[in-house]
Amino acid sequence: MYNRSEPQLDEGFVRNIKEGLGARDQKRVNPKYLYDSAGSQLFEAICRQPEYYPWRTEAAILRQHSTEMVWMHGKKKISIIELGSGSSSKTRILLQKVLLRQPSLYYFPVDVSQAMLRETIYSLSADFSSLRTIGISSDYIDGIDKANSLIAADRQIPDKKLIIFLGSSIGNFEPKESVAFLRNLRSKMEKSDDLLLGIDLHKNKNVLEAAYNDKEGITARFNLNLLTRINRELRGEFNLDSFVHHAFYNSCYKRVEMHLVSTKDQQVYVGRLGQTFSFDKNETIHTENSYKYSEEEIKQMAEASQFILKRNFVDEKKWFSVALFSPA
Ligand code: AVI
Repeated sequence: MYNRSEPQLDEGFVRNIKEGLGARDQKRVNPKYLYDSAGSQLFEAICRQPEYYPWRTEAAILRQHSTEMVWMHGKKKISIIELGSGSSSKTRILLQKVLLRQPSLYYFPVDVSQAMLRETIYSLSADFSSLRTIGISSDYIDGIDKANSLIAADRQIPDKKLIIFLGSSIGNFEPKESVAFLRNLRSKMEKSDDLLLGIDLHKNKNVLEAAYNDKEGITARFNLNLLTRINRELRGEFNLDSFVHHAFYNSCYKRVEMHLVSTKDQQVYVGRLGQTFSFDKNETIHTENSYKYSEEEIKQMAEASQFILKRNFVDEKKWFSVALFSPA
């Protein structure tokens, strides 16, 4: 019987958990399901961990090069669309710079977490009086479509767009998927628009593994929160003490992999699916890949998706890149 107090079912989540946990070989879940409201907060906390170099390295690149990043678009007024905006904390560096060259700015943060968007809009409006923030709670591609139609419907909103996609979220796609995603994005851009893309670079294995195994255990909580989400939304009966976080660098695929490891043979019932899933001791659920790229691979990625790599802003250690892609 329909239970009014239960949260509404996310059909995509249901399908992904059914297929992913029911798989005969490697169990896996799409990493986008790590980001419910608790997961989004935990990710923000990961970014503050000393081991998690991507956040601070990208922020340093933005601080050092934001003037150039902003003036490269010429004198025309721009609007900004940000995919996976989270708390927009790093974006503030760019927003400030844009507001030095134009009196007002339309900013469209796109994020799956409605709670995170609400908080972000509130704090941005308190700090930037000439910023018009229009939050879009959705996944990336629908978000771009919605922002594009809002821009097209209002002549006051500058139609030249800077799309930003920071934090190396592109690294969470499979390489083939990232090209398909960028091509799709390209098809939604005009020739005069630009894309600013944060991408994590190859580096020493120890640095990488430390970043995904912080001493405070925040990444472990972020990973395990997926089971909490299954328990809450799908009436799962996962015991969080019977799974552990495991993250390591896979040098064959040049990616960091994140898994949840079952510490014993066990069976877990998921009520809203009416299904029981079996786990052997040490069997894992693969929850995320985080691919790392070289500068050459970034150039190839741009070209394969009908962009030109206009500039690659990197830090001194060459740990991270903020790449400016222009439609080819
Ligand atoms: C959002 N994304 C780029 C992060 C990453 O580094 O792959 C997510 C993350 N997973 C564990 N720590 C951070």
